[in-house]
Amino acid sequence: MGRTIREILENQPNLSRDRLIPILQEIQDEVGYLSEEAILLTAEFLKLPTSKLYGVATYYDQFRFEPRGRYHIRICRGTACHVEGSLNLLNELEKILKIKPGQTTRDGLFSLDIVRCIGACGLAPVMDVNKEYFTGFSIQDVGQILKTYRERELL
Ligand code: FES
Repeated sequence: MGRTIREILENQPNLSRDRLIPILQEIQDEVGYLSEEAILLTAEFLKLPTSKLYGVATYYDQFRFEPRGRYHIRICRGTACHVEGSLNLLNELEKILKIKPGQTTRDGLFSLDIVRCIGACGLAPVMDVNKEYFTGFSIQDVGQILKTYRERELL
């Protein structure tokens, strides 16, 4: 079992306010998203108002406030992937899944996030689904990729 939010906070070497972003990042890496509990506890430990925490966390698009779906999609929006059309790919994902980055489909199957360069620029555009990587794909492939995961659920 992973660490609890309280354990993560209790084990911080220091709880200064300028550590807010790395702490939230650590919690999200461990738990998958920033729950209400995560926000409340972090605010308590750092002695900050929760409104301030929400303000900061919503400013950065790497934070999500909903649990991940069974299949977590990360689409790269770094420069090389942008040049290779990742904005259109993102739009297609949003259209098919009917969610925006940071959200999860109602059936809990898919969640979507944006990442900034996953270090495979030469293979752009890049996305991964639960760390299964797709590279050099086009907008026509997006529907088929999603369908493959939907079908896995039926097996
Ligand atoms: S910009 Fe997408 S992998 Fe580097």
